[in-house]
Amino acid sequence: MGKCLIIGAGGVASVAAAKCCQNSDVFSEIMLASRTKSKCDAIKTRLDNTKTKIHTAQVDADNVPELVRLFNEFRPCVVLNLALPYQDLTIMDACLEAGVHYVDTANYEPPDEAKFEYKWQWSYRERFEMKGLTALLGSGFDPGVTGVFCAYAMKHYFDEIHYIDILDCNGGDHGYPFATNFNPEINIREVSANGRYWENGNWIETKPMEIRRTYNFDGVGEKDMYLLYHEELESLAQNIKGIKRVRFFMTFGQSYLTHLKCLENVGMTSIEPLMYEGREIIPLQFLKAVLPDPASLGQRTKGKTNIGCIMSGVKDGKPLDYYVYNICDHQECYKEVGSQAISYTTGVPAMIGTMMIMNGTWKKPGVYNIEEFDPDPFMDALNKWGLPWVESFNPILVE
Ligand SMILES: NC(=O)c1ccc[n+]([C@@H]2O[C@H](COP(=O)([O-])OP(=O)(O)OC[C@H]3O[C@@H](n4cnc5c(N)ncnc54)[C@H](OP(=O)(O)O)[C@@H]3O)[C@@H](O)[C@H]2O)c1
Repeated sequence: MGKCLIIGAGGVASVAAAKCCQNSDVFSEIMLASRTKSKCDAIKTRLDNTKTKIHTAQVDADNVPELVRLFNEFRPCVVLNLALPYQDLTIMDACLEAGVHYVDTANYEPPDEAKFEYKWQWSYRERFEMKGLTALLGSGFDPGVTGVFCAYAMKHYFDEIHYIDILDCNGGDHGYPFATNFNPEINIREVSANGRYWENGNWIETKPMEIRRTYNFDGVGEKDMYLLYHEELESLAQNIKGIKRVRFFMTFGQSYLTHLKCLENVGMTSIEPLMYEGREIIPLQFLKAVLPDPASLGQRTKGKTNIGCIMSGVKDGKPLDYYVYNICDHQECYKEVGSQAISYTTGVPAMIGTMMIMNGTWKKPGVYNIEEFDPDPFMDALNKWGLPWVESFNPILVE
């Protein structure tokens, strides 16, 4: 029915491409374009037995004229950005110039500053509106499905949601003492930053990993989790009516934390450039080069993820608690698409968000976060495309 151009050829892009091919009624043609074309070709080879026609191309997504040329040649309906957050703005610029809708899974981050905020992408609102184009921001799992969960709860169960806790639990074990489940540079920048949450109209800042809680996750068991800043907190604090507090917790094992502390203490997680044997290097990028490639973890990772939102608020004047989550099994994902659950839980919603724009289910010119759209068709699609969700009206709350 339509054409989609996927930028990036990493763990998430390979799952999104596989899911597009399962959904060839909507995705009749896809193009995989990335910095290293051989990675696009490898994905194409794995997926060749499909009705969806697959093309590949080399592109530098930091270069707007190069992107515009490619978009004008292929003429996609939507560009799905699964490169790195550093490329969000150049890809949005190119979409505006070529008249193409835009979808991503992570908000813009300047490469030389570990700071992510929506302000850069929100400043494109008028330009997308004027061109009649839609930019859907954050269509992964978190951000992504977590925002859809909140919008669904707001639409069907609550008059006001006062408290939201997003709980991201990875109970998987890959057998390495230290590895990250997605791009190590992005992951380490995120978890080594100060924590932050929204309460009563203000941001409260914490030291990294300062707030710890223990939670018993369905399908996984009891885990320690730590409060982090995560990008959907910024948009949910604006878009959910009556919100008083919104927090994000992620589970980490002791081995991961001990290694991270040590790497931090010796300066390996720094993004300050330094000279090494006459060449400028960035320690965190060097560290990425020596760590296991997240795409290689799939076969080794056993166990499950459980990601969801606990919400408390009121309905018809009465207090109400609600928990909605997905459990995803690493080995099942590997069997289906050759990737572990972290890439799977991001790649599936990336395909679904793109489908919502491609088939016109979500039509709204401008730049929007995912919770600003009707959640119902997306919730149905999650059940259909591999991320079924579970509801509880009597959850244990996080203190
Ligand atoms: N919302 C969520 O739930 C969620 C969860 C996980 C990840 N994410 C996001 O998903 C995105 C992809 O993650 P991933 O784990 O798949 O990362 P990845 O494996 O590192 O893949 C990134 C891909 O982007 C390509 N790329 C980087 N810079 C480029 C450039 N200038 N031009 C063209 N291509 C470029 C890379 O090319 P090379 O192959 O040449 O390096 C690589 O193929 C990231 O933005 C990440 O933050 C979101």
